[in-house]
Amino acid sequence: MWTPPEKIRHAPPPGDWPTAEEAARSRLFSPIDVGPVRLRERTWVPAMVPWRASEDGFVTEPVLAWYERFAQGQPGAIVVEATGIRDVPSGPLLRIGDDRFVAGLATLVERVRRASGGRTRLFIQLIDFLRIRRRPPRERFLRAFLRITEGHRAATGAADDEAVREALVAMDDDRLRAVLSPREWEALTMGARERVTDTDLPHVRDLPRVLPGLFADAARRAKAAGFDGVELHYAHAYTMASFLSPTNTRTDGYGTTLEGRLRLPVEVFEAVRAEVGRDYAVGCRFLAEECIDGGGTVEDAVAHARAFAAAGMDFLSLSRGGKFDDAKQPKVGEAAYPYTGRSGYECMPTVRSDARGPFGRAVPAARRIRAAVRAAGFDTPIVVAGGICAFSQAEAILARGEADIVGAARQSLADPDWFRKMRLGLGAQIRRCRYTNYCEALDQKHKPVTCQLWDRIDVEACALRSPDGRRRLVAPPWSPPAP
Ligand SMILES: Cc1cc2nc3c(=O)[nH]c(=O)nc-3n(C[C@H](O)[C@H](O)[C@H](O)COP(=O)(O)O)c2cc1C
Ligand code: SF4
Repeated sequence: MWTPPEKIRHAPPPGDWPTAEEAARSRLFSPIDVGPVRLRERTWVPAMVPWRASEDGFVTEPVLAWYERFAQGQPGAIVVEATGIRDVPSGPLLRIGDDRFVAGLATLVERVRRASGGRTRLFIQLIDFLRIRRRPPRERFLRAFLRITEGHRAATGAADDEAVREALVAMDDDRLRAVLSPREWEALTMGARERVTDTDLPHVRDLPRVLPGLFADAARRAKAAGFDGVELHYAHAYTMASFLSPTNTRTDGYGTTLEGRLRLPVEVFEAVRAEVGRDYAVGCRFLAEECIDGGGTVEDAVAHARAFAAAGMDFLSLSRGGKFDDAKQPKVGEAAYPYTGRSGYECMPTVRSDARGPFGRAVPAARRIRAAVRAAGFDTPIVVAGGICAFSQAEAILARGEADIVGAARQSLADPDWFRKMRLGLGAQIRRCRYTNYCEALDQKHKPVTCQLWDRIDVEACALRSPDGRRRLVAPPWSPPAP
């Protein structure tokens, strides 16, 4: 992953953990309504893909164990990982694109309810993404994948397409780059990636016609499975975030202007709302900043937040960055990963940072967005995440009105019981995240995600282990001491 050149190593904020009485009086452990759903506390585990679904997208025992373990920590809410709304193969990522997925998801809801003693509300993140191909071997790309154009023929002066291909293969990279179009060069060096602006492709042109129904059907299934609500994934490198981005130059009414860029995200929400009704929680996760050249800024996010609140969303969860635009070049045979560049750093910042540091890095943007939503007359709860891992830090964010709900992804992975330990006055027992992104590196390799702080502890005692048997797939057990 990209690291800020300053490489300043930051210490985590002091835990200064509360006593049980202080926790009981705190904002963090006070309830909040998320539309029709009441959270018992303002603690939230944001979506994290753990790479545990079956190859065909079904809930597996390791998926159940993963969420059950988070539920034992009894947070106010857990958001189940990005789950695909289409009925297409997508590797071991959860899917909700057909009714056959509902039974497994219902079991997941049931396991979380039981494990949290009914304290935790469960949302599921609904995602659509466009096609991205692996980086091809150079010769294979030039000999088999590249579509030969007049430009290639003119540049090589070769008589037939086979000769054009061979001439391209023989070129050095500088010359080849000058001959290929920017998109062809990208397809060769990064892997071909579809964009929402590729309206020459019928399935991309039709996204505004197709996506509202796909999201609405997925939300109906989520409701049928028993989830308390859905989080529409409008963040990071995926389809809906790309519609919101200033890089969206579509000219069909779904891009270019702020209104155009907002149009599909709002239409998707309206279709979902019409399907699940007012008494079901629907919110979205979107970017407070895209953190790429020419990408969305906090000013864009303010406008997005106001529009989503006005449309009637029940919560707004903020994230940052995580784009393909600045991703590092993948190895041949691998796909680009949207968390390897600067924008990826902003999404999951590590301890080696710039002067600002990784802890609560997303909070200033959240403060501006929340203030704008309140000034527009909406009380929609705002969820913030990013390096939040201490009681006083979380409490101060709530006290200053910078957000309404505190999300912690990696700290909850490091210690799924950390919110509960705080609430019980047992903060000294918290296993604190190191923010060095061992977990994220596994995610990048599409390997089952674990935490370096627990995956080698009592490995033999853990029934669920990584395929090589060397890492536990579930955090070690913990239970509060008997009173
Ligand atoms: C392994 C891993 C998987 C993630 N998967 C998702 C995801 O599916 N959807 C999403 O919106 N964010 C995802 N994220 C980002 C987190 O939700 C969160 O925004 C980010 O880690 C910053 O919060 P933190 O500092 O509390 O970890 C993932 C993060 C990690 C570490
Ligand atoms: S692997 Fe590292 S960054 Fe990830 S949760 Fe564990 S301690 Fe935190």
